[in-house]
Amino acid sequence: MTLPPGTGADAVAPDDRLLMDTFMSQYRLPAVVAADRLGLFPALGGTPASAEELARARGLDPHGTAVLLEFLAALGHLAVHGGRYHLTPSAHAFLLPGSARYWGPMLGLGWDERCAAVRHLVTTGAPHGYRGKGIWETHEESPRHGVQFARAMHAHSAAPAAVLAARLDLAGCASLLEVAGGVGTFAMALARRNPRLKATVMDLPIVEREAKALLEDAELADRVALRTGDMFTDPWPDDQDRVLLADVLSDWDDEHCRALLEHARTSLAADGLLLIHQVLPDDAARLSPTVTGYSLALAVMTGGRLRTLPELTALLTAAGFTDCATVPVYGHYALVTARPA
Ligand SMILES: C[S@@+](CC[C@H](N)C(=O)[O-])C[C@H]1O[C@@H](n2cnc3c(N)ncnc32)[C@H](O)[C@@H]1O
Repeated sequence: MTLPPGTGADAVAPDDRLLMDTFMSQYRLPAVVAADRLGLFPALGGTPASAEELARARGLDPHGTAVLLEFLAALGHLAVHGGRYHLTPSAHAFLLPGSARYWGPMLGLGWDERCAAVRHLVTTGAPHGYRGKGIWETHEESPRHGVQFARAMHAHSAAPAAVLAARLDLAGCASLLEVAGGVGTFAMALARRNPRLKATVMDLPIVEREAKALLEDAELADRVALRTGDMFTDPWPDDQDRVLLADVLSDWDDEHCRALLEHARTSLAADGLLLIHQVLPDDAARLSPTVTGYSLALAVMTGGRLRTLPELTALLTAAGFTDCATVPVYGHYALVTARPA
């Protein structure tokens, strides 16, 4: 699959990699500090292991251990040979307690709440969210957190949404459903570019005020409808030409993803197309501290993680989709498409 380069200023604007790199750097120290406290470096120094083997041997959670080790490898503290994690020369020199150059006491100065959050994930497998409380429940109960997050998502998504809209041909489409669309950043950008398109944005009630204000400012309130509710339990509109999931599946475990994808399939018209916009960790991206750090951040905050194309394809196939294809779109982001089988 290819996307045309697109037209207009959005198509040629600089991408947000530098900002993503900067933002995700916040997990670098916490990951190393948590691994040090959990004794993972001496464990791997003694016996190189896969994430699953290490988790079993140390009584840790396999999912949390896997996202942490992928990140530590991208950071250069671990190397993978034959599916097993080994210490790199730097980790040998500085991360083994008892060695003359051990950095543990120095790392201890960096212990903070984020380190505790990473440790919580790796030991229990559960997201830490906000101080142990679920992220989405917190947003609904504490409008300050909810509104701050909705604004953050809008700030993060404005540029990728504009680029997707500049490159994606929706000329033949009359309807698009954006699920967990936040304040409707993608739906608004796509509607602005496609005057025939009517969009529906589903999200939790906390986004309502911000979303309505943005829609009115953009003069799109007649073509972009907001539908607040719970995407797992409330009905989705049917006969949609497109269903868009932007940064959604990466917030959830496989079971919740399967439920969302099944809803998406029944919501789409027979000739409709599912659009998944997210960071896709391919072989090159696995070496990226930003991509692997993002996956760790998702696991810590929401209980999700980034999935590779084969992992997404397996979920899509099980939910009744076919013809999975992907194309890079913007920065670290890619578009994955699939049709109802
Ligand atoms: C990572 S944000 C993505 C927002 C938007 N798609 C974007 O890319 O800017 C995930 C969104 O999922 C929404 N969400 C979480 N649980 C939900 C639920 N049960 N029903 C509907 N939306 C939900 C959140 O409110 C949040 O806006």
